[in-house]
Amino acid sequence: MTELNAALSGTFAIGGDLKVNRLGFGAMRITGKGIWGPPENPEEAKATLRRLPELNVDFVDTAESYGPYVSEELIGEVLAPYAKGTIIATKSGLTRTGPDQWHQLARPEFLRQAVTQSLRRLKLDAIDLWQLHRIESGTPRPDQFGAIAQMQKDGLIRHVGLSEVSVADIKEAQKYFKVTTVQNLYNLVTRQSEDVLDYCEQNNIGFIPWRPIDGGNLEAGSAEFRALLEKHSATPGQLALAWMLKRSPVMLPIPGTGKVKHLEENVAAAAITLSDDDFKTLDRIGRKG
Ligand SMILES: NC(=O)c1ccc[n+]([C@@H]2O[C@H](COP(=O)([O-])OP(=O)(O)OC[C@H]3O[C@@H](n4cnc5c(N)ncnc54)[C@H](OP(=O)(O)O)[C@@H]3O)[C@@H](O)[C@H]2O)c1
Repeated sequence: MTELNAALSGTFAIGGDLKVNRLGFGAMRITGKGIWGPPENPEEAKATLRRLPELNVDFVDTAESYGPYVSEELIGEVLAPYAKGTIIATKSGLTRTGPDQWHQLARPEFLRQAVTQSLRRLKLDAIDLWQLHRIESGTPRPDQFGAIAQMQKDGLIRHVGLSEVSVADIKEAQKYFKVTTVQNLYNLVTRQSEDVLDYCEQNNIGFIPWRPIDGGNLEAGSAEFRALLEKHSATPGQLALAWMLKRSPVMLPIPGTGKVKHLEENVAAAAITLSDDDFKTLDRIGRKG
């Protein structure tokens, strides 16, 4: 049987000092439909969270807007006090008005309120990695970035990450604080952030690809892909994760699920070793979409 151990994915030190196993967990899917309200099956969602430390998954991504609040509340309820070395990364910068409705909001007072409440829900004294979910277009950037720098100075947050940003955005934010991670949409078939990933690799910034298994929609379309799936006795999602882990040492994939079986399947990808030829073939298949 395949070993279920996220440590097989290797490690990355976020900000140089927060060492995590590279294959993490996305906690957006432990909420209701439209990422709104409680999950359909709360016991299964809680069992999924409980399984994380058993599988050495020590990097968990969430946001106050998931539910809203539901994801952070469940993490605080099930995982706190946290196993040593567990890093809970959260975010703010989006507000919610209903299922599937998301709106940018990054006014300084909102960000500070969000962080102080995330701390309460997650039962933490400081947030190890806090990410600006979106740079808001309506609030001046110096106000948003300045508020974040102040929260870091005040000890509310340790390291800062950004989400859905360009290389120019990262450079601009770096005038205010050290950018330690970037979370952009990226997977085998969605590659518009290659330049951002390259910049992160060159600057030792963790790159957290969101939607890493394309929402569970990857299919074994071509004969070439089917042959690789057979060779590795893997699912398309597992090969996509193995491909991402080999793509860059700064890659920190966070596949999301509310189901124990799916979590185990995703963690099993850490045990897959792709040859350089397998990697190139998958890269080509992915670029074709
Ligand atoms: N920064 C941002 O703007 C942003 C945006 C979106 C997401 N995120 C973060 O990124 C994480 C990952 O993104 P994501 O959850 O949208 O996409 P994903 O990880 O690519 O896919 C998750 C979807 O695939 C299903 N799934 C997971 N494992 C599976 C498996 N082994 N077999 C079959 N289906 C499986 C899940 O459903 P089940 O629950 O039924 O397993 C869920 O619907 C999120 O959880 C969140 O933390 C960030």
